[in-house]
Amino acid sequence: MSSSILWPRSCTADCCSLGAAHSCPPAWVMTSMSWGPMPPSILGCESCGCRCRSASHHRLASVPSRQASLYPPSSPCISCRGPPRLRSSRHPQQALKSPPHSSDPSWHPWSPIRGSPVLHTSRTSGCSSSTSLALGFAAGDVVLIQPENSASHVQQFCQLLGLDPDQNFVLQPREPDATCPARLPQPCSVRHLVGRYLDVAGVPRRSLFELLASLSPDELEREKLLEFSSAGGQEALHAYCTRPRRTVLEVLCDFPHTAAAVPPDYLLDLIPPIRPRAFSIASSLVTLPGRLQILVAVVQYWTRLKEPRRGLCSCWLASLDPGQGPVQVPLWVQPGSLTFPETADTPVVMVGPGTGVAPFRAAIQERVARGQTGNVLFFGCRQRDQDFYWEAEWQELKRRGCLTLVTAFSREQQQKVYVQHRLREHGPLVWELINQQGAYFYLAGNAKSMPAEVTEALTSVFQEQGGLSGPDAASYLTGLQRALRFQAETWA
Ligand SMILES: Cc1cc2nc3c(=O)[nH]c(=O)nc-3n(C[C@H](O)[C@H](O)[C@H](O)COP(=O)(O)OP(=O)(O)OC[C@H]3O[C@@H](n4cnc5c(N)ncnc54)[C@H](O)[C@@H]3O)c2cc1C
Ligand SMILES: NC(=O)c1ccc[n+]([C@@H]2O[C@H](COP(=O)([O-])OP(=O)(O)OC[C@H]3O[C@@H](n4cnc5c(N)ncnc54)[C@H](OP(=O)(O)O)[C@@H]3O)[C@@H](O)[C@H]2O)c1
Repeated sequence: MSSSILWPRSCTADCCSLGAAHSCPPAWVMTSMSWGPMPPSILGCESCGCRCRSASHHRLASVPSRQASLYPPSSPCISCRGPPRLRSSRHPQQALKSPPHSSDPSWHPWSPIRGSPVLHTSRTSGCSSSTSLALGFAAGDVVLIQPENSASHVQQFCQLLGLDPDQNFVLQPREPDATCPARLPQPCSVRHLVGRYLDVAGVPRRSLFELLASLSPDELEREKLLEFSSAGGQEALHAYCTRPRRTVLEVLCDFPHTAAAVPPDYLLDLIPPIRPRAFSIASSLVTLPGRLQILVAVVQYWTRLKEPRRGLCSCWLASLDPGQGPVQVPLWVQPGSLTFPETADTPVVMVGPGTGVAPFRAAIQERVARGQTGNVLFFGCRQRDQDFYWEAEWQELKRRGCLTLVTAFSREQQQKVYVQHRLREHGPLVWELINQQGAYFYLAGNAKSMPAEVTEALTSVFQEQGGLSGPDAASYLTGLQRALRFQAETWA
């Protein structure tokens, strides 16, 4: 395997490109939501005692106390909002590309461990391979990757807000207790701020609407923003934003007069930073020295909106083309929740459908290299010829007697066949390994319903093969969990 980042084959064709700019008809046309008049406001703000006339705040003050506590006002209230936490000033000097102290662990909430935070990648034959790797990690560790917004989103955002992407600025705290984000270089360019820091592709929280309402010069837009900020408007906000997964950028498109009036100093108060994404490390340094490989499912799905929803990090990674020159991917390694036994003869039973197989590839590589036996892998995917990741590698390990591989191809027949079905079918082997040979049991992958269904299948194996009653099987599982012989790592 020469690649370092392996895209699920079934995803590469249709999910890798970032879309063109969204067309931006006003939300009220798109969503046919009502723009009725605001209810009469009550004078005075209960929480801070001011005389502000913020409709959202007044509504909160007017609802019964139980309801009010369900929708606590975010602070500060709209009209009491102070100046932005930070002040920016134009800077004539060239912007820096990264913070000067980027190798300092304190620049990020997760301290980078054992390595350099930046990896140069280059891609060969459709996959990516890593170079200049100075990281240390073990099977079960995860890598955190800091994604970027697409260039088209940066351009669209800057246009909406009337910002010059090439303008450089420096930040200063307005108050003694405010600090500048350590992840931002100083001086910084607007392009860097929008592209690498502001989560414009994220789904906004209510506080965005509150702050926008307080900044809006447009009556119609302000009324709608106030409705979304209010306790009574939360259902409408959910329908407009949360359910269809509308992004910050799309919301700004829907409120163009407000967007154009946002003072740049408020950007850091308005939009949260992009958060890094975790990926299970799928390779072992013992087998592949100097390499770090991950298996990434490119996230794309549809809601009722015209444009598909695209996962920020997975689509960004898929869009990188090291063929055009070196690509920098900021990343950190941190311990994961999975740990594997070190003794030579302790077997492992690993259940990893889809990308859930990633941490188990690292573990199997490491165990095989150390001569550890008893490696059993349950792998599930849609179709053998579409998303059977690392098939050749598994077959080779099987041939060498280093791996027992059980597969479940869910879409090759009428009825779904999943890993839990195979687990039941192989109940005698699973029970023997766990009960007689002290095997460790692992599961990883999609957090939706797979973990509960696999766990249920496992307890039914305890009952059917071990003759345990329901409650005894449940306490047997609890015992395994306490001894770290049942471990799971799942993600949404
Ligand atoms: C410990 C750990 C290990 C992980 N390992 C891996 C790994 O090995 N490989 C891997 O691919 N991922 C892994 N992940 C998941 C990964 O961190 C990201 O969450 C994933 O890549 C999506 O990130 P994104 O930025 O592309 O999508 P985002 O922009 O973050 O969007 C993802 C969000 O979109 C929503 N969403 C996604 N699909 C749908 C849908 N069909 N309908 C409605 N809403 C939806 C969900 O809210 C989801 O959280 C791991 C996560 C953790 C915590
Ligand atoms: N566009 C694509 O072709 C494509 C391909 C792979 C992944 N993805 C996306 O990538 C993300 C993660 O993918 P992934 O490959 O890690 O995992 P995944 O989508 O969960 O699929 C992995 C395997 O698990 C099966 N599965 C579904 N529900 C299950 C359950 N309750 N118990 C056990 N197995 C179950 C799937 O079958 P079924 O899907 O047949 O139910 C599939 O065979 C998802 O958002 C997915 O939509 C897209």
